[in-house]
Amino acid sequence: MSRIQLLNPRLANQIAAGEVVERPSSVIKELLENSLDAGATRVEVDVEDGGVKLMRVRDNGGGIDKSDLPLALSRHATSKIRELDDLEAVATLGFRGEALASISSVARLTLTSNTSDESAGWQVTAEGRDMQAELAPAAHPKGTTVEVRDLFFNTPARRKFLRTEKTEYNHLDDVIKRQALSRFDVAFTLRNNNRAVYSWREAGTQIERERRVAQVCGPAFMEQALHIDIERSGLRLWGWVAQPSFNRSQADLQHFYVNGRAIRDKLVGHAVRQAYQDVLYHGRHPAFVLYLEVDPSTVDVNVHPTKHEVRFRDNRRVHDFIFSSLHHALAQVRPGDRLESETDAPEPALSGAA
Ligand SMILES: Nc1ncnc2c1ncn2[C@@H]1O[C@H](COP(=O)(O)OP(=O)(O)O)[C@@H](O)[C@H]1O
Ligand SMILES: [Mg+2]
Repeated sequence: MSRIQLLNPRLANQIAAGEVVERPSSVIKELLENSLDAGATRVEVDVEDGGVKLMRVRDNGGGIDKSDLPLALSRHATSKIRELDDLEAVATLGFRGEALASISSVARLTLTSNTSDESAGWQVTAEGRDMQAELAPAAHPKGTTVEVRDLFFNTPARRKFLRTEKTEYNHLDDVIKRQALSRFDVAFTLRNNNRAVYSWREAGTQIERERRVAQVCGPAFMEQALHIDIERSGLRLWGWVAQPSFNRSQADLQHFYVNGRAIRDKLVGHAVRQAYQDVLYHGRHPAFVLYLEVDPSTVDVNVHPTKHEVRFRDNRRVHDFIFSSLHHALAQVRPGDRLESETDAPEPALSGAA
Protein backbone atom coordinates (compact mmCIF):
# COMPACT_ATOMS: atom_id res chain seq x y z
CA MET A 1 0.00 0.00 0.00
CA SER A 2 1.17 3.56 -0.63
CA ARG A 3 1.14 6.19 2.07
CA ILE A 4 -2.05 7.95 3.06
CA GLN A 5 -2.48 11.48 1.66
CA LEU A 6 -5.14 14.12 2.01
CA LEU A 7 -6.99 14.74 -1.26
CA ASN A 8 -6.69 18.29 -2.50
CA PRO A 9 -9.95 20.26 -2.03
CA ARG A 10 -10.78 20.29 -5.71
CA LEU A 11 -10.50 16.53 -6.05
CA ALA A 12 -12.42 16.00 -2.81
CA ASN A 13 -15.20 18.21 -4.18
CA GLN A 14 -15.19 16.41 -7.52
CA ILE A 15 -15.59 13.09 -5.76
CA ALA A 16 -18.37 14.48 -3.58
CA ALA A 17 -19.99 15.96 -6.69
CA GLY A 18 -20.62 12.41 -7.89
CA GLU A 19 -23.36 12.12 -5.30
CA VAL A 20 -25.10 15.38 -6.06
CA VAL A 21 -24.41 16.20 -9.70
CA GLU A 22 -25.38 13.29 -11.89
CA ARG A 23 -26.56 15.29 -14.89
CA PRO A 24 -27.82 18.78 -15.82
CA SER A 25 -31.18 18.22 -14.16
CA SER A 26 -29.47 17.63 -10.80
CA VAL A 27 -27.83 21.04 -11.10
CA ILE A 28 -31.16 22.66 -11.92
CA LYS A 29 -32.75 20.96 -8.92
CA GLU A 30 -30.11 22.31 -6.53
CA LEU A 31 -30.22 25.82 -7.98
CA LEU A 32 -34.02 25.97 -7.83
CA GLU A 33 -33.97 24.76 -4.24
CA ASN A 34 -31.54 27.52 -3.36
CA SER A 35 -33.74 30.15 -5.01
CA LEU A 36 -36.81 28.91 -3.15
CA ASP A 37 -34.90 28.75 0.13
CA ALA A 38 -33.90 32.38 -0.48
CA GLY A 39 -37.56 33.37 -0.56
CA ALA A 40 -37.76 34.08 -4.28
CA THR A 41 -41.18 34.70 -5.79
CA ARG A 42 -39.84 34.60 -9.33
CA VAL A 43 -37.36 32.12 -10.78
CA GLU A 44 -36.12 32.27 -14.35
CA VAL A 45 -34.25 29.36 -15.92
CA ASP A 46 -32.24 29.55 -19.13
CA VAL A 47 -30.63 26.48 -20.66
CA GLU A 48 -28.65 25.69 -23.79
CA ASP A 49 -27.77 22.30 -25.27
CA GLY A 50 -29.78 20.36 -22.71
CA GLY A 51 -28.06 22.30 -19.94
CA VAL A 52 -24.59 20.98 -20.74
CA LYS A 53 -23.46 24.21 -22.37
CA LEU A 54 -25.37 26.57 -20.11
CA MET A 55 -27.74 26.61 -17.16
CA ARG A 56 -28.66 29.95 -15.66
CA VAL A 57 -31.03 30.38 -12.73
CA ARG A 58 -32.01 33.89 -11.77
CA ASP A 59 -34.14 34.73 -8.76
CA ASN A 60 -35.49 37.71 -6.84
CA GLY A 61 -34.77 36.21 -3.42
CA GLY A 62 -32.86 37.71 -0.52
CA GLY A 63 -29.43 37.50 -2.13
CA ILE A 64 -26.04 36.74 -0.59
CA ASP A 65 -23.88 39.23 1.29
CA LYS A 66 -20.69 40.26 -0.44
CA SER A 67 -18.58 38.78 2.33
CA ASP A 68 -20.49 35.48 2.18
CA LEU A 69 -20.10 35.01 -1.57
CA PRO A 70 -16.81 33.07 -1.52
CA LEU A 71 -18.14 30.94 1.35
CA ALA A 72 -21.23 30.02 -0.64
CA LEU A 73 -18.95 28.06 -2.96
CA SER A 74 -17.16 26.22 -0.16
CA ARG A 75 -18.10 22.75 0.85
CA HIS A 76 -19.87 22.33 4.19
CA ALA A 77 -20.79 26.01 4.20
CA THR A 78 -24.46 26.79 4.70
CA SER A 79 -26.65 29.51 6.12
CA LYS A 80 -29.46 27.05 6.78
CA ILE A 81 -28.38 25.06 9.80
CA ARG A 82 -26.02 25.86 12.66
CA GLU A 83 -25.97 22.86 14.93
CA LEU A 84 -27.01 19.25 15.10
CA ASP A 85 -30.34 20.10 16.69
CA ASP A 86 -31.31 22.11 13.61
CA LEU A 87 -31.23 18.88 11.61
CA GLU A 88 -34.13 17.68 13.72
CA ALA A 89 -36.51 20.08 12.05
CA VAL A 90 -35.14 21.32 8.74
CA ALA A 91 -37.47 23.90 7.22
CA THR A 92 -35.41 24.58 4.09
CA LEU A 93 -34.89 22.42 1.00
CA GLY A 94 -31.11 22.63 1.34
CA PHE A 95 -28.97 22.19 4.44
CA ARG A 96 -25.91 20.17 3.45
CA GLY A 97 -23.90 23.09 2.12
CA GLU A 98 -22.37 21.16 -0.72
CA ALA A 99 -24.35 21.86 -3.88
CA LEU A 100 -22.51 24.96 -5.09
CA ALA A 101 -19.14 23.50 -4.09
CA SER A 102 -19.89 20.32 -5.98
CA ILE A 103 -21.24 22.07 -9.07
CA SER A 104 -18.35 24.51 -9.23
CA SER A 105 -15.84 21.66 -9.07
CA VAL A 106 -17.20 20.11 -12.28
CA ALA A 107 -18.28 23.18 -14.26
CA ARG A 108 -17.55 26.87 -14.77
CA LEU A 109 -19.70 28.64 -12.22
CA THR A 110 -20.49 32.33 -11.82
CA LEU A 111 -22.46 33.52 -8.83
CA THR A 112 -23.83 37.07 -8.88
CA SER A 113 -25.90 38.46 -6.07
CA ASN A 114 -27.27 41.57 -4.46
CA THR A 115 -28.96 41.86 -1.08
CA SER A 116 -30.08 45.46 -1.45
CA ASP A 117 -32.81 47.19 -3.40
CA GLU A 118 -30.27 49.44 -5.09
CA SER A 119 -28.75 48.24 -8.29
CA ALA A 120 -25.40 47.02 -7.05
CA GLY A 121 -24.07 43.51 -6.48
CA TRP A 122 -21.03 41.31 -6.46
CA GLN A 123 -19.83 38.35 -8.40
CA VAL A 124 -17.61 35.35 -7.76
CA THR A 125 -16.36 32.92 -10.33
CA ALA A 126 -15.02 29.42 -9.84
CA GLU A 127 -13.72 27.25 -12.63
CA GLY A 128 -13.31 23.86 -11.09
CA ARG A 129 -9.57 24.44 -11.13
CA ASP A 130 -8.45 25.85 -7.83
CA MET A 131 -11.71 26.84 -6.16
CA GLN A 132 -10.18 30.28 -5.60
CA ALA A 133 -13.15 32.61 -5.70
CA GLU A 134 -12.41 36.11 -7.03
CA LEU A 135 -14.79 38.91 -6.01
CA ALA A 136 -15.75 41.62 -8.49
CA PRO A 137 -18.54 44.22 -8.55
CA ALA A 138 -21.40 43.36 -10.91
CA ALA A 139 -24.74 45.08 -11.45
CA HIS A 140 -27.64 42.89 -10.39
CA PRO A 141 -31.12 43.64 -9.03
CA LYS A 142 -31.95 42.26 -5.59
CA GLY A 143 -31.57 38.49 -5.79
CA THR A 144 -29.15 35.98 -7.19
CA THR A 145 -28.07 34.57 -10.53
CA VAL A 146 -26.09 31.38 -10.81
CA GLU A 147 -24.62 30.58 -14.19
CA VAL A 148 -23.20 27.12 -14.83
CA ARG A 149 -21.33 26.52 -18.08
CA ASP A 150 -19.68 23.47 -19.65
CA LEU A 151 -20.83 20.84 -17.20
CA PHE A 152 -18.21 18.09 -16.67
CA PHE A 153 -15.69 19.95 -18.86
CA ASN A 154 -12.93 18.74 -16.53
CA THR A 155 -14.34 15.29 -15.77
CA PRO A 156 -14.56 13.56 -19.19
CA ALA A 157 -15.50 10.24 -17.60
CA ARG A 158 -18.69 11.78 -16.19
CA ARG A 159 -19.41 13.57 -19.43
CA LYS A 160 -19.58 10.27 -21.26
CA PHE A 161 -22.61 9.28 -19.22
CA LEU A 162 -24.66 12.17 -20.52
CA ARG A 163 -27.40 11.33 -23.00
CA THR A 164 -28.62 13.32 -25.98
CA GLU A 165 -29.45 16.99 -25.63
CA LYS A 166 -33.14 16.12 -25.90
CA THR A 167 -33.00 13.55 -23.10
CA GLU A 168 -31.07 15.82 -20.76
CA TYR A 169 -33.46 18.66 -21.58
CA ASN A 170 -36.47 16.47 -20.79
CA HIS A 171 -34.98 15.57 -17.42
CA LEU A 172 -34.40 19.17 -16.43
CA ASP A 173 -37.81 20.19 -17.73
CA ASP A 174 -39.29 17.53 -15.44
CA VAL A 175 -37.35 18.90 -12.49
CA ILE A 176 -38.61 22.43 -13.09
CA LYS A 177 -42.19 21.24 -13.46
CA ARG A 178 -41.94 19.16 -10.32
CA GLN A 179 -40.66 22.20 -8.47
CA ALA A 180 -43.36 24.41 -10.03
CA LEU A 181 -45.98 22.07 -8.60
CA SER A 182 -44.42 22.40 -5.17
CA ARG A 183 -44.71 26.18 -5.02
CA PHE A 184 -47.80 27.75 -6.53
CA ASP A 185 -46.81 31.07 -4.97
CA VAL A 186 -43.72 31.33 -7.17
CA ALA A 187 -43.55 32.31 -10.85
CA PHE A 188 -41.42 30.04 -13.05
CA THR A 189 -39.99 30.75 -16.49
CA LEU A 190 -38.03 28.44 -18.78
CA ARG A 191 -36.09 29.38 -21.90
CA ASN A 192 -34.41 26.71 -23.99
CA ASN A 193 -31.77 27.72 -26.57
CA ASN A 194 -33.02 31.31 -26.28
CA ARG A 195 -36.62 30.35 -26.97
CA ALA A 196 -39.32 30.90 -24.35
CA VAL A 197 -40.84 27.53 -23.40
CA TYR A 198 -43.15 28.61 -20.60
CA SER A 199 -43.72 31.39 -18.19
CA TRP A 200 -46.05 30.62 -15.31
CA ARG A 201 -47.29 33.40 -13.12
CA GLU A 202 -47.90 33.01 -9.42
CA ALA A 203 -50.98 30.87 -8.91
CA GLY A 204 -52.84 32.39 -5.97
CA THR A 205 -56.36 31.12 -6.50
CA GLN A 206 -57.65 27.58 -6.75
CA ILE A 207 -58.45 28.10 -10.44
CA GLU A 208 -54.92 29.32 -11.11
CA ARG A 209 -53.45 26.41 -9.20
CA GLU A 210 -55.53 23.94 -11.17
CA ARG A 211 -54.43 25.62 -14.37
CA ARG A 212 -50.80 25.08 -13.38
CA VAL A 213 -51.46 21.43 -12.55
CA ALA A 214 -53.13 21.03 -15.95
CA GLN A 215 -50.13 22.65 -17.63
CA VAL A 216 -47.77 20.19 -15.95
CA CYS A 217 -49.85 17.01 -15.86
CA GLY A 218 -52.02 17.56 -18.90
CA PRO A 219 -55.62 18.80 -19.10
CA ALA A 220 -56.99 15.23 -19.15
CA PHE A 221 -55.58 14.59 -15.70
CA MET A 222 -57.19 17.73 -14.32
CA GLU A 223 -60.56 16.87 -15.86
CA GLN A 224 -60.54 13.52 -14.09
CA ALA A 225 -59.02 14.71 -10.84
CA LEU A 226 -60.68 14.88 -7.46
CA HIS A 227 -59.49 17.64 -5.20
CA ILE A 228 -58.89 16.49 -1.66
CA ASP A 229 -57.87 18.25 1.54
CA ILE A 230 -57.89 16.18 4.69
CA GLU A 231 -56.49 17.07 8.07
CA ARG A 232 -56.24 14.77 11.05
CA SER A 233 -54.22 14.93 14.24
CA GLY A 234 -51.45 17.12 12.93
CA LEU A 235 -51.25 15.55 9.47
CA ARG A 236 -52.62 17.17 6.35
CA LEU A 237 -52.97 15.62 2.91
CA TRP A 238 -54.19 17.71 0.04
CA GLY A 239 -53.96 17.84 -3.72
CA TRP A 240 -55.48 16.08 -6.68
CA VAL A 241 -55.99 12.39 -7.32
CA ALA A 242 -57.17 11.04 -10.64
CA GLN A 243 -60.33 9.00 -10.59
CA PRO A 244 -59.56 5.36 -11.24
CA SER A 245 -60.90 5.70 -14.78
CA PHE A 246 -57.83 7.83 -15.52
CA ASN A 247 -54.96 5.44 -15.04
CA ARG A 248 -51.61 4.79 -16.66
CA SER A 249 -49.47 1.91 -17.82
CA GLN A 250 -46.49 3.42 -15.99
CA ALA A 251 -46.05 5.19 -12.69
CA ASP A 252 -45.16 8.35 -14.60
CA LEU A 253 -47.77 10.76 -13.30
CA GLN A 254 -47.21 10.59 -9.59
CA HIS A 255 -46.10 13.60 -7.63
CA PHE A 256 -45.76 13.43 -3.91
CA TYR A 257 -44.44 16.22 -1.72
CA VAL A 258 -43.61 16.15 1.95
CA ASN A 259 -43.48 19.64 3.39
CA GLY A 260 -42.87 21.00 -0.10
CA ARG A 261 -40.09 18.55 -0.95
CA ALA A 262 -40.64 16.20 -3.88
CA ILE A 263 -39.93 12.70 -2.71
CA ARG A 264 -40.02 9.10 -3.88
CA ASP A 265 -40.84 6.96 -0.94
CA LYS A 266 -41.65 3.26 -0.59
CA LEU A 267 -43.95 3.79 2.35
CA VAL A 268 -45.92 6.48 0.57
CA GLY A 269 -46.03 4.47 -2.65
CA HIS A 270 -47.36 1.48 -0.79
CA ALA A 271 -50.09 3.46 0.99
CA VAL A 272 -51.26 5.00 -2.29
CA ARG A 273 -51.23 1.67 -4.16
CA GLN A 274 -53.22 0.07 -1.42
CA ALA A 275 -55.82 2.80 -1.54
CA TYR A 276 -56.28 2.26 -5.27
CA GLN A 277 -56.06 -1.52 -5.06
CA ASP A 278 -59.75 -2.31 -5.36
CA VAL A 279 -60.52 0.27 -8.00
CA LEU A 280 -57.66 -0.23 -10.48
CA TYR A 281 -56.89 -3.13 -12.74
CA HIS A 282 -53.80 -5.05 -11.89
CA GLY A 283 -50.73 -3.55 -13.52
CA ARG A 284 -52.29 -0.12 -13.96
CA HIS A 285 -50.92 2.91 -12.13
CA PRO A 286 -52.78 5.78 -10.50
CA ALA A 287 -52.04 9.44 -11.22
CA PHE A 288 -51.83 12.03 -8.47
CA VAL A 289 -50.37 15.29 -7.23
CA LEU A 290 -50.34 15.12 -3.45
CA TYR A 291 -48.97 17.24 -0.65
CA LEU A 292 -48.37 15.84 2.79
CA GLU A 293 -47.77 18.35 5.53
CA VAL A 294 -46.35 17.12 8.79
CA ASP A 295 -44.52 18.60 11.75
CA PRO A 296 -40.91 18.92 10.45
CA SER A 297 -39.60 17.34 13.62
CA THR A 298 -41.41 14.09 12.77
CA VAL A 299 -39.60 13.59 9.48
CA ASP A 300 -35.90 13.08 8.79
CA VAL A 301 -34.83 14.64 5.49
CA ASN A 302 -31.14 13.86 5.91
CA VAL A 303 -31.36 10.38 4.49
CA HIS A 304 -29.87 10.75 1.02
CA PRO A 305 -27.55 13.28 -0.69
CA THR A 306 -30.15 14.16 -3.31
CA LYS A 307 -32.78 14.45 -0.57
CA HIS A 308 -35.28 12.41 -2.60
CA GLU A 309 -36.01 10.19 0.36
CA VAL A 310 -37.29 10.91 3.82
CA ARG A 311 -37.84 8.90 6.95
CA PHE A 312 -40.93 9.34 9.09
CA ARG A 313 -40.68 8.96 12.80
CA ASP A 314 -44.06 7.26 12.92
CA ASN A 315 -44.27 5.21 9.74
CA ARG A 316 -47.45 3.44 10.63
CA ARG A 317 -49.41 6.59 11.40
CA VAL A 318 -48.33 8.28 8.16
CA HIS A 319 -49.08 5.18 6.11
CA ASP A 320 -52.52 4.74 7.62
CA PHE A 321 -53.37 8.40 7.24
CA ILE A 322 -52.47 8.43 3.54
CA PHE A 323 -54.21 5.14 2.90
CA SER A 324 -57.43 6.00 4.70
CA SER A 325 -57.63 9.53 3.29
CA LEU A 326 -57.28 8.31 -0.29
CA HIS A 327 -59.40 5.23 0.23
CA HIS A 328 -62.18 7.42 1.56
CA ALA A 329 -61.87 9.94 -1.28
CA LEU A 330 -61.94 7.23 -3.92
CA ALA A 331 -64.94 5.58 -2.31
CA GLN A 332 -66.89 8.76 -2.97
CA VAL A 333 -66.52 8.26 -6.70
CA ARG A 334 -69.63 6.83 -8.34
CA PRO A 335 -69.27 3.11 -9.01
CA GLY A 336 -69.86 3.75 -12.72
CA ASP A 337 -66.67 5.79 -12.79
CA ARG A 338 -64.57 2.89 -11.71
CA LEU A 339 -62.75 0.33 -13.73
CA GLU A 340 -64.08 1.84 -16.90
CA SER A 341 -61.10 2.46 -19.01
CA GLU A 342 -58.27 0.18 -19.82
CA THR A 343 -56.76 2.51 -22.34
CA ASP A 344 -53.84 4.72 -21.59
CA ALA A 345 -54.59 8.27 -20.69
CA PRO A 346 -52.93 10.81 -23.01
CA GLU A 347 -49.26 11.47 -22.45
CA PRO A 348 -48.66 13.99 -19.70
CA ALA A 349 -46.01 16.64 -19.92
CA LEU A 350 -43.78 14.71 -17.55
CA SER A 351 -41.62 11.77 -18.49
CA GLY A 352 -40.00 10.93 -15.15
CA ALA A 353 -41.54 8.79 -12.46
CA ALA A 354 -42.13 10.13 -8.99
N1 LIG B 1 -30.09 31.66 -4.94
C1 LIG B 1 -29.58 31.93 -3.72
N2 LIG B 1 -30.03 32.99 -3.01
C2 LIG B 1 -29.52 33.26 -1.78
N3 LIG B 1 -28.54 32.54 -1.17
C3 LIG B 1 -28.06 31.48 -1.84
C4 LIG B 1 -28.55 31.11 -3.14
N4 LIG B 1 -27.86 30.02 -3.54
C5 LIG B 1 -27.01 29.71 -2.54
N5 LIG B 1 -27.13 30.58 -1.52
C6 LIG B 1 -26.33 30.57 -0.27
O1 LIG B 1 -25.22 29.73 -0.45
C7 LIG B 1 -25.22 28.69 0.55
C8 LIG B 1 -24.67 27.41 -0.05
O2 LIG B 1 -25.58 26.86 -1.00
P1 LIG B 1 -25.57 25.29 -1.24
O3 LIG B 1 -24.20 24.89 -1.63
O4 LIG B 1 -26.67 24.95 -2.16
O5 LIG B 1 -25.84 24.69 0.20
P2 LIG B 1 -27.21 24.61 1.04
O6 LIG B 1 -28.35 24.99 0.17
O7 LIG B 1 -27.27 23.19 1.46
O8 LIG B 1 -27.01 25.55 2.20
C9 LIG B 1 -26.64 28.61 1.04
O9 LIG B 1 -26.70 28.15 2.38
C10 LIG B 1 -27.13 30.04 0.91
O10 LIG B 1 -26.76 30.80 2.06
MG1 LIG C 1 -28.64 24.24 -1.73
